[in-house]
Amino acid sequence: MEPFVFFGGKGGVGKTTVSCAYGLKCARDGHRTLVVSTDPAHSVTDVFDQPFGDSPRPVEGVDRLEAMQIDPEDEVTRHLDEIRQDLSEQVSASMVNEINRQLEMAHGTPGAYESALFDRFIEVMRTADDYDRVVFDTAPSGSTLRLLGLPDLLEDWIDRLMYKRRTSIDLFEKAAIGNNEPRRVMEGDPVLARLEERKSFFEFAGSALHDDAAFFLVLNPDELSVNETRRSIADIREKDLAVRGLVANKLTPSPDPDENGRGARYLRERVATEEERLETIRSEFEPPLVAEIGWRSSEVKGDLLDDVAAELDIATAVEPPTHV
Ligand SMILES: Nc1ncnc2c1ncn2[C@@H]1O[C@H](COP(=O)(O)OP(=O)(O)OP(=O)(O)O)[C@@H](O)[C@H]1O
Ligand SMILES: [Mg+2]
Repeated sequence: MEPFVFFGGKGGVGKTTVSCAYGLKCARDGHRTLVVSTDPAHSVTDVFDQPFGDSPRPVEGVDRLEAMQIDPEDEVTRHLDEIRQDLSEQVSASMVNEINRQLEMAHGTPGAYESALFDRFIEVMRTADDYDRVVFDTAPSGSTLRLLGLPDLLEDWIDRLMYKRRTSIDLFEKAAIGNNEPRRVMEGDPVLARLEERKSFFEFAGSALHDDAAFFLVLNPDELSVNETRRSIADIREKDLAVRGLVANKLTPSPDPDENGRGARYLRERVATEEERLETIRSEFEPPLVAEIGWRSSEVKGDLLDDVAAELDIATAVEPPTHV
């Protein structure tokens, strides 16, 4: 299994729970593991009953397991501050105000969260030397998954920006010659340097996601979730990435065979309907069903998390990364 493992899926299906359970399984199997969560509502903090923040912290009572929780709101602010800093070093003072105004507006634009989170995910991947495995509990909307197709697109875009910057420097140099004072501004140009840095960032992102990451989708046995999963599998395939496996969570438990009250009959009917849906998944969906997790009567934490971890038929052994 690749060093980076992502769990995606619709809101509330159990991504955080499954990510934590898988992280726990990896740690118990001897791998130094980090679980990265981005959801401020129900997150690693709730599952492990312990506060987590922006940097990795050990999970109490579990050797080799650490967790961190990225706050998307803070991340956007940090991200935009960085851009502000970058730009204000490179433009005239008169433009700084305009830049600030634009960045204020950017804060609220769709995509700002995703873009900031994406950067952060990649940064975590780039600096994950201390871990054998990093497990990403992705954002509810699945928009994080959509971002996975971005690196290629952005690389092309950066190439074009670099070309433009070079052309304009070139023109500037030619003009300067007329001034009897040729200037070699191409070397050491801060804008080009920054573009170069972004390009290598996206190159890393593209290859790490393609070669060192495995994607799993969590689903519930209801029609909505099954349909959504079908779409996500196609979306991800379109990005030349593959879904490694599907995790069915919150399956209705079967009553004992000798029980025949109303509750038992209801459960039995539900189990039958869910079984049909699982059968559809097994026969029509390409990625294999790697776990069927029963619906517990309470929140999954503590010992229950170990139980759920045992139900995950996902390998934990780590292949070394190809892109370090
Ligand atoms: N197998 C299960 N049995 C009982 N409760 C479960 C099970 N799996 C998840 N839950 C509970 O369902 C709720 C949602 O689970 P979780 O937070 O893992 O989903 P999520 O996909 O991460 O949600 P979000 O999209 O909001 O991030 C939580 O309260 C969790 O404890
Ligand atoms: Mg979650």
